[in-house]
Amino acid sequence: MSKTRSKKKSGSAAFTEKKFDLYQASVQCPEADVEFFKRVFFLHTNRAMRSLREDFCGTGALCAEWVRDHENHTAIGVDFDRPTLEWGRDHYLAVLNDEQRSRVDLRCEDVRNVVGTDVDLLCAQNFSYWIFQERQEMLRYFRIARDSLAEEGLFVCDMMGGSEVTSVEEVDRRIDDGERWDGSKMPPFNYIWDQNTYNPITGEMVCYIHFKLQRGKRMNKAFKYVWRVWQLPEIRDLLLEAGFSSVDVYTEGWDDEEEDTDGIFLKRKHFDHEGTWIAYLVAKP
Ligand SMILES: C[S@@+](CC[C@H](N)C(=O)[O-])C[C@H]1O[C@@H](n2cnc3c(N)ncnc32)[C@H](O)[C@@H]1O
Repeated sequence: MSKTRSKKKSGSAAFTEKKFDLYQASVQCPEADVEFFKRVFFLHTNRAMRSLREDFCGTGALCAEWVRDHENHTAIGVDFDRPTLEWGRDHYLAVLNDEQRSRVDLRCEDVRNVVGTDVDLLCAQNFSYWIFQERQEMLRYFRIARDSLAEEGLFVCDMMGGSEVTSVEEVDRRIDDGERWDGSKMPPFNYIWDQNTYNPITGEMVCYIHFKLQRGKRMNKAFKYVWRVWQLPEIRDLLLEAGFSSVDVYTEGWDDEEEDTDGIFLKRKHFDHEGTWIAYLVAKP
């Protein structure tokens, strides 16, 4: 009895173990972020980007990808959830060699308490900054972000919008089998994005991520988000008010053959507000 126990992880440890793998496979694409950051930084500054700070970094997957990408790259990841950071250390940083690992600094802190990092690019991905629901709170965060950049640095945050972004609905997406970061195999599963409640008075939305696994198993409420749904012009205005001098908007094009977005983010002045769209905002001090 005790033998079996010691081998098997407890229910909640196994849940945690699995949920981050599933999250990474369905939500994140650090390779695409890295390519976008390098391209946009070069476009704006005419030099290669070296240092990244990822706020709300979660497991630090993007930081790990950044230092793996080039020997001159350094990364600071900031998140105040210690177990999430620890999972990242054990699963992403553990796959790096010692030299690569020495270029990553994961900090267990509130992003609003980390200043003076002097980085080339500071990013806030997957709408994490929507946790700040009050205008003054968001403004304060953007000021801190601006003050944490090197000269000619950039702040990049993603943005979601569209006619369906506040609909109370579930979107179920099949994720094909693939590989984890360490190269081990991952079976297929379903990712369910649950826009559970929306309050039009405050703009607060509560969302969950659930996963449907093989043999009818379901992992309910693996992740919960309580956000304000901000509009793009509101965020742009706040960035300008925080002292950024310009804010560019990058969105994907449309692939007629695939009947899907083409994955190529270009700077645009106008795009269609259909369904749910995703954009990057690039702010220059
Ligand atoms: C949606 S996850 C984002 C994970 C990752 N950045 C990504 O792109 O998938 C949000 C993360 O933000 C962290 N977080 C929320 N508020 C924070 C704050 N004020 N300071 C630091 N981390 C925070 C949470 O602990 C959580 O890990």
